[in-house]
Amino acid sequence: MSQDTAAIRVSGLSKHYGKTQALDDLEFEIPQGKVTGFLGPNGAGKTTTFRSLLGLTRPDGGDIEVLGMSVPAQLNQITKKVGAIVEEPGLIKSHTGTINMKIAADTLGFGHDRIDELIDFVGLTGDAGRKAEQYSKGMRQRLALAAAMIGDPELFLLDEPLDGLDPAGQHAFRARLRNLATEGKTVVVSSHDLADIEALADYVVVVNRGRLVTQGPLESLLDDGVVRVVVDDGPSAMAALSAAGIESRSDDKGLIVESEDGSSIVEVLARAGIYPSEVRRERTTLETVFLGMTEEFGT
Ligand SMILES: Nc1ncnc2c1ncn2[C@@H]1O[C@H](COP(=O)(O)OP(=O)(O)OP(=O)(O)O)[C@@H](O)[C@H]1O
Ligand SMILES: [Mg+2]
Repeated sequence: MSQDTAAIRVSGLSKHYGKTQALDDLEFEIPQGKVTGFLGPNGAGKTTTFRSLLGLTRPDGGDIEVLGMSVPAQLNQITKKVGAIVEEPGLIKSHTGTINMKIAADTLGFGHDRIDELIDFVGLTGDAGRKAEQYSKGMRQRLALAAAMIGDPELFLLDEPLDGLDPAGQHAFRARLRNLATEGKTVVVSSHDLADIEALADYVVVVNRGRLVTQGPLESLLDDGVVRVVVDDGPSAMAALSAAGIESRSDDKGLIVESEDGSSIVEVLARAGIYPSEVRRERTTLETVFLGMTEEFGT
């Protein structure tokens, strides 16, 4: 990524809690104007990273640059340009949706003129007069997004915003986030759920155990095609392929060969007298990418 297209740049970021190394020399970059999925299993360090980016926790070391400014030195300027939801959205449950929005605006030093428009954007117009304690989890998430939008920020840092929403709610929330990116905003969404990110993100940063596993455009992570081969005798087929210089691995459904070319696989197997019951190209899902990587890291 070139100098001027990264909205966030992190290097050497470390943070420990007692004996737990939450972040361990973490580095990544997040492109501007896109939706980035910040993906990792439970305990990977996602929330700790977001808290570090927002100056809510003090890392042991490392460099953080947000919108070209450095954390923590320029946090005052950064905060005005960032909308965030980290962990439980900070709503006051005894107040209505509208009053929560007014409090959010006042706290951040912004006017009230966009409140109705934002409540409408998140689809809460009919519920704006109800107390937040009567809201469902999905409604609270939507109100939190509206509150995060109050200062028309350039960058959104949303920690697990889709968590606990039903499929229809997730679909609508994803559409709203995509909409923000279409307007040129940078949106960073953390999740431990691969399907969320696959359906939403342009760019993906995968972390595990406080370290970067991989990062890149979603498409480039999914590009590598594999061929699925179903045979009766997996070990013999693997041996025959290996003798022909074709590496394969097995799972519960058969063999997986990292290759674009199914016909040469069939030819090699036929020469060894092995006739697969099925050979087909499979698109790599983010799940196989993710599982492969976390296995490498011994999870
Ligand atoms: N305040 C804290 N005190 C002690 N340990 C902490 C604290 N916050 C986080 N940790 C530890 O740091 C590691 C990273 O936690 P973090 O909350 O950043 O992970 P996460 O990726 O957000 O996980 P999840 O998907 O469960 O939200 C974990 O091992 C966690 O137990
Ligand atoms: Mg978390």
